[in-house]
This record gives sequence, C-alpha cells and structure tokens, in this order.
Amino acid sequence: MKVLAFSLSLRQGSFNGKLIQLVIESAEKLGVELELIDLSAYELPAYNMDIQNTVGFPKAANDLKDKLETAQGIMLASPEYNFSYPGHFKNTFDWISRYQPMPWANKAVLLLSASPSLVGGNRGLWHLRVPFEACGAFVYPGMFSLASAHDAFTESGALKDEAMAKRLEATVLSYIRFAEALKF
Ligand SMILES: Cc1cc2nc3c(=O)[nH]c(=O)nc-3n(C[C@H](O)[C@H](O)[C@H](O)COP(=O)(O)O)c2cc1C
Repeated sequence: MKVLAFSLSLRQGSFNGKLIQLVIESAEKLGVELELIDLSAYELPAYNMDIQNTVGFPKAANDLKDKLETAQGIMLASPEYNFSYPGHFKNTFDWISRYQPMPWANKAVLLLSASPSLVGGNRGLWHLRVPFEACGAFVYPGMFSLASAHDAFTESGALKDEAMAKRLEATVLSYIRFAEALKF
C-alpha cells in the first residue's frame, strides 16, 4: 500500500514537519510505502474557474493529481491557523477537487496537528475533515494532536514524552489497518 504524507506548514523547522517525519518512520516500519509531498513544490494560483476553463489546470495541479492517483492513503500534519487550517491548502484542495474522477475520493486519511498551545492544534483538524468527507475520502476517526510542540521534540527529532510517542505509534498502526481494510 502507498501513502502520501503532507505537512501543511511551509516553514523551515516546522513542528508539523517534525511530526510528519515521525509518522513516516512509524508507518515505514510497518512495511508501508511512503512519499513525503513538499507542498511548496506545488504552488497554485488562487482558484478561478475562468483559468480552469481557458488556460486549463496549472502544471502543479496536474502533478499533484498524478501523485494522488498512485496512493491509497494520505497522512497530513497541519498547523492550526485561527482555529482552522492554513488557507493555502484549501486552495490546493479546491483545485484538485475539480478533476474527474475525484482524486480525493476513497482515500484513507489520517489527520495530525502540532501547536505550541495546550490544545495542540486539534480545532483546525475538525475543519479539515469537512472538505475531505465532502469529496468522498474516509477520514480515520482517531486524530492526533501534539500540544506544547515547541518543547515536545528532542534534538534528534524524537518525542521527549515516551507515553506520547507510544500513542503516536498506536495511532499510526490502527490507521494503517483501517487503510488496508478499505483498499479499493
Ligand atoms: C496566521 C496564524 C494563525 C495562528 N493561529 C493559531 C491558532 O488558532 N491556534 C494555535 O494553537 N496556534 C496558532 N498559531 C500559531 C501556530 O500554532 C504556530 O505558529 C505553529 O508553530 C505553526 O506550526 P508549524 O510549526 O508547523 O509551522 C497561528 C499562527 C499563524 C501564523
């Protein structure tokens, strides 16, 4: 099974970037084929139906759509921006949703977040569920949110809190089982 991994933070040193790395390592140990997608390589103009209908889809949208066609699952770590998720991803999501057949449909999706706050960015994930579910993806019910992310990682990028590290591994394991059971 192939899974695409995304961090929705574009910045260097991102806590969500660190979290998705841990998730990738965890899933690879289970024999899953992983590919990290760097969204800064898929920059898209603000969605405009006139562009779609005249110029057509931007190359970055075609390339990302092609990547999605190769995968059964998506693991995504998102910062919380104003209790929601970053706007650039909604724009990307909307462009991709214009292809037929729907590239987001039937994907098994794991949502994760990291934030310096005590809530760990979890409120943003509830917003992320909506477009995925609207487009026919299967969002795994268990979401993982890392609170106090500025103090959560060791120098080498592991989680300092062993219980939290175990919970993350358990979440990845049950998500992978969910994704395999859904395989289309
Ligand atoms: C526009 C903006 C809005 C933010 N809103 C929230 C918020 O609602 N909740 C929160 O916990 N953190 C919020 N933050 C702080 C982010 O959690 C913090 O910058 C975090 O480091 C972003 O994730 P990253 O490290 O993966 O880039 C916001 C940051 C920005 C830039």
